[in-house]
This record gives sequence, structure tokens and C-alpha cells, in this order.
Amino acid sequence: MKWIILIPADGLLAGWKIDRDNGREIRVKITIVSGSHRTGSQSVKVAEYIRDALLENRLCDEADIIDLAGNPFPLWEQDIWAGEEKWTRLLDPVRERLCSSDGFVVIAPEWHGQVPAGLKNFFLLFGRNELGHKPALIVTVSSADGGAYPVAELRMSSYKNSRICYIPEQLIIRNVESVLNGDPEKNDPEADGYFRERIGWTLGILREYALALEQVRASGATETSKFNNGM
Ligand SMILES: Cc1cc2nc3c(=O)[nH]c(=O)nc-3n(C[C@H](O)[C@H](O)[C@H](O)COP(=O)(O)O)c2cc1C
Repeated sequence: MKWIILIPADGLLAGWKIDRDNGREIRVKITIVSGSHRTGSQSVKVAEYIRDALLENRLCDEADIIDLAGNPFPLWEQDIWAGEEKWTRLLDPVRERLCSSDGFVVIAPEWHGQVPAGLKNFFLLFGRNELGHKPALIVTVSSADGGAYPVAELRMSSYKNSRICYIPEQLIIRNVESVLNGDPEKNDPEADGYFRERIGWTLGILREYALALEQVRASGATETSKFNNGM
């Protein structure tokens, strides 16, 4: 007996994609970094919503959350570059989670017009080896109508040496307490509907960048032992 498996013309089926050039299956993993130091933060609420949306809409095969609540990483120290054991023990498991990711969502609340210090520290601890030439979606969070400053800060100062590739779309979740809540009673129906739809559309774009940039890395063009830092 012969089995025939039908694959839709666009190669997209149930969250996986066949690379028709060599027939291998590409799995997509997206890691979400929740940049608030606060426990039970609005950022982590948004992170969990995004994780569920990614998985339910089959935009990736695996979605991970790295939550910076409670400051799990001490401030950067010189010993990291010496490969000191206390640091490798802490950082290696996280490095692995980041290296195995194809794209990122970076969530930053606006704190006094800035990105929280723990998130900036994250970009000192992890860099080109984990994040380089991978797409990332910036999502900022404000309890009022802020959220633009952390977008500008991340776009200006966190990509140079890490070579993380922020996609042109971004999400600014204003009045965050009144959207994306599990309890519909807590949501402003108009704003909530808008953000849910916009998040879904934007995550679809992130997925396509994740698939596209995998080819950029696989080409070998980004590899260098000479130009380790951006200009
Ligand atoms: C230290 C601190 C500073 C803040 N500064 C701002 C600000 O400059 N602009 C703004 O829109 N919201 C500001 N907020 C309110 C945050 O936008 C709001 O608390 C948001 O939900 C924080 O996200 P989180 O719960 O993920 O930490 C600030 C909150 C904190 C804790």
C-alpha cells in the first residue's frame, strides 16, 4: 500500500514549514523576555497572552518565557568574561534557551521614561552568540499613555553588539491594566479587541522574519572572528 501526504502549496501546515530546497522540517521557537522586575507584573501578563497566542495560532512550535521578575541575574561583572564558574552555572542554561530560539519578543514597561535596568543588564549578559541576526518584536507596556520612550531606547541602544534584529513593527500596550485580562469584566472591550487583533497580526510578521533570517544565519555571511562588535 502507498501513502500520499498532501502538503498545501504554501508549505505551511499546523505550525511547521517544509523548506522545499532540501525537504527538511523547520521548527520555530520564540522566546519572550518579560522585562519588568516586579512580581505579578503587567509585562508578564502580556508575555503569557503572547505565548498563548503564538501557540494557539500555530505561529511557532515552542514558546518560552524568561521573566526578569525579582532580578534573577545580578548586575554584569568582569568575571563573566573570565568564564567564572558561578556565572557559567547561572548563565549557561539561559544561553541554551536563547541559542535554541529563532526569534524573540522583548517586553519593556516604561519606568520613568526608561527601560528597566534589569532588561538593560540582560543585554550586557547575553549578546551576539545568543541573539545575533535573529528577529525581535518590541512590546512596551504603560499603565497610562506612555510606552514610546522604551521603544526608542531599545531601538537605539540594545542591538549594536548583540546584532538582534528588531522588526519594523512594534506594539505599545497603553492602559495595560484594561486589556488582555483573562476576566472579560476587567477589559475595555474596544481597546482589548483592538490589541488582540493587532498582536495576532504582528506575531504573524515576526514568524515570517524568524523563518527568513534563519536563512541569513545559515548562509554563513554573518560569521566573523574579526568584527565581533558592531560599529
Ligand atoms: C518605577 C516606575 C516608574 C514608572 N514610570 C512610568 C513612566 O515614566 N511612564 C509611564 O507611562 N508609566 C510609568 N510607570 C507605570 C508603568 O507604566 C506601569 O506600572 C506598568 O504597568 C508597569 O509595568 P509592570 O507591571 O510590567 O512593571 C512607572 C512604574 C514604575 C514602577
